[in-house]
Amino acid sequence: MIAAKRLHPLFAAEITDLAVSAPIPDAVFSDIEAAFRRHSVLVFRDQPITDDQQIAFSERFGALETTKVGTAGAGGKLIVLSNMDEGGAVVPASDRQVLNNRANRLWHADSSFKAVPAKASMLSARLIPSKGGDTEYISMRAVYAALPGRLKQAVENKVVIHDYAYSRSKIDPALVTDAERAAVPPVRQAMVIDHGADLGRSLYLGAHAARIEGMAEDEGRALIDELMAFATQERFVYAHKWQPHDLILWDNRAVIHRATPFESATEKRLMVRTTIAGDAPTLVAAA
Ligand code: OGA
Ligand code: MN
Repeated sequence: MIAAKRLHPLFAAEITDLAVSAPIPDAVFSDIEAAFRRHSVLVFRDQPITDDQQIAFSERFGALETTKVGTAGAGGKLIVLSNMDEGGAVVPASDRQVLNNRANRLWHADSSFKAVPAKASMLSARLIPSKGGDTEYISMRAVYAALPGRLKQAVENKVVIHDYAYSRSKIDPALVTDAERAAVPPVRQAMVIDHGADLGRSLYLGAHAARIEGMAEDEGRALIDELMAFATQERFVYAHKWQPHDLILWDNRAVIHRATPFESATEKRLMVRTTIAGDAPTLVAAA
């Protein structure tokens, strides 16, 4: 049995008394998977792991995504979120790396711009700033459950077009390269995902959500904006204050998340992410 300590009234739990780098028996791993499904965000404190150990633990949950072109770590299994150059010096605010990190400050679900979006992401805190740089999460199952009837009706059976070029253009129109456009063309996603009778439905949205199929662009965007304004109420947010060597696993189909600012011109932040691939398009699990 593993011990899970609730971190928020609606979701998120800390798993205690477990070293993820040690061998984990199948029975214990099943408990972790069940906790992941139920709580959507799992925090493991004090896990000083290497990249290989992070990959090994992540792979227990499924095959990993390969990092896309244009992102630090491209072609491999790691995404490196850092505001430092190879020599460890802080890079200027105009650096592509920093702009890409800034895009993480928009609420999003990882890889929602892929035809089969990520199932889960695992983020390891290697170096954290003295203040700021928290990561915030919203339970989109709690959000769906709390939607007023009018909005529940409005989202029913909707298909949303998610587009990487659209979300990146909010940060800087020049940020997306032709190679990225070619690698990640717009895709169709379910607006509502069914997680089964025990867990209910979630709203699937975030920064990459650009348009709603069958609606005029401005109307669709107005509905997306209204839903995001509802979803981002304080009561749905778990804000994680990182400690060195924290490791967090989250369910990209049940939560959205965002980075928060820190003094990136003077302080250093280094995070390493692995991403567990999804096994089917969201439309297969559409509510
Ligand atoms: C990510 C992400 C947020 C952060 O790794 O997918 O959005 O706080 N990170 O670094
Ligand atoms: Mn992210």
